[in-house]
Amino acid sequence: MANPEFDSHFEKDETQIYLNSGTQSISPKVVLDSVIQHLRDYERNPTQGLIHAWEKLWKVQTRLGEFLHARPLDLFLRSNVTSVMNAFILNAPLPPGSEILVSDTEYQAVAQICRYRAERDGLTFRCFHLPGSESEMHGLTEESLAESVISALRPETRMVVLSHVMTGHGLVLPLGRIARETRARGIQLVIDGAHGVGALPLDFAALSDVDYYGGNLHKWFMGPKGTAFGWVHPLWQDRLEPQQIGWTTYEAHSPYNRFGQGHRFAERHLHAACVDFAPFLALDAAFQFWQEQGAEKIRARLQFLQSTTEEQMRLKTGWRLVSPSVGPLRGPLLSYELPAPLEAEGYELMARIFSVSRVQVASTCLQGKWVLRLSPHIYTTELEVARATDILGKLAH
Ligand SMILES: Cc1ncc(COP(=O)(O)O)c(C=O)c1O
Repeated sequence: MANPEFDSHFEKDETQIYLNSGTQSISPKVVLDSVIQHLRDYERNPTQGLIHAWEKLWKVQTRLGEFLHARPLDLFLRSNVTSVMNAFILNAPLPPGSEILVSDTEYQAVAQICRYRAERDGLTFRCFHLPGSESEMHGLTEESLAESVISALRPETRMVVLSHVMTGHGLVLPLGRIARETRARGIQLVIDGAHGVGALPLDFAALSDVDYYGGNLHKWFMGPKGTAFGWVHPLWQDRLEPQQIGWTTYEAHSPYNRFGQGHRFAERHLHAACVDFAPFLALDAAFQFWQEQGAEKIRARLQFLQSTTEEQMRLKTGWRLVSPSVGPLRGPLLSYELPAPLEAEGYELMARIFSVSRVQVASTCLQGKWVLRLSPHIYTTELEVARATDILGKLAH
C-alpha cells in the first residue's frame, strides 16, 4: 500500500492527504534542498550572485529547451503562467476589428486577460462552448473536439486562447489538429499549458503550428514554486512587444549579455533586474529528478493512481465523473459532479473538507457549476487514496 519507488523522495506531512497536485504539486526533497542552497549561496555575496546569475539562468533555459524538445532561444522564464499569458495576450499584434476567442472552460484569470485586452483596444471578446458535463463526454473524440473549436472560428477571429489541459475537468485538446487550421487561417493560437509540462510528454518540435505556449513548472513537473516559461514561434518573435522594458530591450553592455548568447528574442524577453533566482536555478535539480526517475515511470505511476482513485470514487461515492474517459482526451485531473447540497457550498466545500478531515481537494467552478477535483501525484499512496475516498464517500450519503 505504500509507494516504495517514490516515497523516500518526498517530505510529506503525514497528518494530511494531499490530492490537489493540479494547483501545485509537492516538490521532491532534492528540489527543495536546491532552492535553499541557491538562496544561501547568493547571500554570501549578492553582487557576485547577481552578476553571475544570468549565465546560470541561460544554462537552465537551455536544459528546459532539451526537456521540451524546444530551442532555448524561443523560450523565456517567468514566475507563473498567468504572467506568461499576460505577456502573450496583452502584447501580441492584433489589427483593429479583431476578435479574441476563448472557450467557456478556460481558467477564469486567463479569460479575464483576454477580456481586458479586448476592452483596452476596442476589440471583440467572445466565448464559445466546449464539453463540460458527463453527458457531453459520451462519444467525444479528438476529431469531434477539434471540430467544436474550428466551427467556432469566424473571419474576424484573430486570436484564440485555449488551455492544453482544461482546469475544470482535465480535458486535453488535440492541439495539432486545431493549430493546423488556425495557422492556415492566420489566426494566432495562444495555448495556456498550465497543466501540460510533466503530465503530458510535450514536444515542441511537433507543435510547429502553435503560435504561443505558456507552461507552469510548479504543477505536474514538481519544480520549485514560482517557475514557469513562455514559448513563442519564430513567426511572431519580432512582433511580440516585450512585457517589461529594461537593460536588454536595446543592446547594452551589462552582465545581462551573458544571457542568451546574442539571441535578441531571448534577451528582449528576459526580466533583466534583481529577482529571486533561487527557484529558477533549482530547476536543474528537478530536471535531474525526472532524468533519474524516468518520465515514463513517473507517468505510469500517475495513471495508476488516477485509475485507482477513479475506481474507489465510483464504488464509494457514486458521483458522476465529468472528466473524459481514459484515452487521448484525458488529462491528469479527475472532476466530479456533486449532489445539490454539496454543490451549493461552492468554493467553501474544499475548506470544509480540509478542516474536518485534513484531505486537500479542490472545488472548481466549471461552466458555472461547482465540481470536486482530485489530482494525486507520484507521492500519493494507495492507502491515502483509500482513506480520502472513504471520507468523501461518507459525505456523499
Ligand atoms: C489552466 C490554468 N491556467 C492558468 C493557471 C494559473 O497558474 P498560475 O497561478 O501558476 O499562474 C492555472 C492554475 O491552476 C490553470 O489551471
